[in-house]
Amino acid sequence: MAQQKSFSSNLGAIMAAVGSAVGLGNIWRFPYICGKYGGGAFLIVYLCFVFLLGSVLMMSEFVIGRRAQHTPIKAFQALCPKHKAWGLVGLLGIITSFFILSQYLVISGWTTGYVWNSISGTLASLGTDSGAISSFFKEFSTSQWDPVLFLSVFAVLALVIILGGVQKGIENVSKVLMPLLVLLVLVLCVRSLTLPGAGKGVEYLFSPDFTKLTGEGVLAALGQALFSLSVGMGVLLVYGSYIPVNDNIFKTAMWITACDTLIAVLAGLAIFPAVFSCGFEPAGGPGLVFHVLPNVFNTMGTTGTIFASIFFVLLMVAAITSAISLLEALTAWFSEHTGTRRVVGALLFFVLTTALGILFSLSLGSLSHIKIAGLCLFDFVDRMNSIYLPPLCALGTIIFFGWVLPEEDVKDELSNHGTLKIGYYRLFRFLARYVVPVALLVVLVAGMLS
Ligand code: PFF
Repeated sequence: MAQQKSFSSNLGAIMAAVGSAVGLGNIWRFPYICGKYGGGAFLIVYLCFVFLLGSVLMMSEFVIGRRAQHTPIKAFQALCPKHKAWGLVGLLGIITSFFILSQYLVISGWTTGYVWNSISGTLASLGTDSGAISSFFKEFSTSQWDPVLFLSVFAVLALVIILGGVQKGIENVSKVLMPLLVLLVLVLCVRSLTLPGAGKGVEYLFSPDFTKLTGEGVLAALGQALFSLSVGMGVLLVYGSYIPVNDNIFKTAMWITACDTLIAVLAGLAIFPAVFSCGFEPAGGPGLVFHVLPNVFNTMGTTGTIFASIFFVLLMVAAITSAISLLEALTAWFSEHTGTRRVVGALLFFVLTTALGILFSLSLGSLSHIKIAGLCLFDFVDRMNSIYLPPLCALGTIIFFGWVLPEEDVKDELSNHGTLKIGYYRLFRFLARYVVPVALLVVLVAGMLS
């Protein structure tokens, strides 16, 4: 089989995949839903989901990618040459990556804009007037040029990293940015936890309240577990094809899952104690990051500018290592399929996703009259990206892995050709064949009914 490119070491593979996993989802979504659906109670469910379901999906993508040494579509076809239609699951992954990246660029562009606005002092100049901070964000995000400019700057950064290649680009950048991200989040944690009244935020995050853990909360935990680990988009399949042959896939997946979860919890500790201490209400998503937090930072006086800058740089670092994994999946797939050099695929998908991202961005302002199913383009793609595409692609992948791929191939790959013990295998196989597909079906159906 054609040998794909490869990460240089196990550490490199872990850093790159953690880079993909740790993203906007960890920072603006996890802490909020954790508090909303019962704190410690939610956390227990979430931990079960990431370790028992998410990591199984991650391992299945790694196994398929490393075994096949191909990108999505060809990977499925190479492992099941009699039924080439399985390639459609790979195609779904490519489509999913494409739309997720286009949407991710919009929010990453806002983040880049806020790095600029916090460092230049524009955010601080808004003071603690909530109304002014909210309308600043509204004007910024719906305006014609600013979001487009910052989105483009962010996309160019991602392109430059991808053009550097798998080792010199993705791996080396992740090895620098991931420790930086941990450092930044720790600095913010210390600041946040030492503010007066910080305990309330810690309580919001961790104190278990089982009455708040509704069915909706359990579904939110599952959806978040999948999104946060970047599974169901073919991205980890491509990264799997770069994992060195002697790496232990099980250990690698456990490390990635643990790091992703830890950073999500740390993000919560960096954010909510400060939010409560400054007397604000918790929120999630754009409301948290672009309304509540600038207000929190502005109540801290002059040091607030520094912490605001640190926070938005942190968010941008998290976003860029996720965005490059999506662009890499598209680039690698295109160059394998067409036999062209990486630069061609990278440039093509840079242009396409940036153009689509710009369209989504404009759909929040001047193009808001264009609707699909009653939603503006941005909201429509948001719904597709959160409810339909990733769970569907994940379902196809796990059915292929659990029911089509010969068991000997799976064991051979997990045990590195019989050289590693795989004592976890029976539980793993059971989860992969029964539990994960059923859970994904539930998420899909519940999403469609919502
Ligand atoms: N895991 C990322 C986050 O939590 O923000 C989102 C993501 C990145 C999903 C890359 C999928 C992906 F391929």
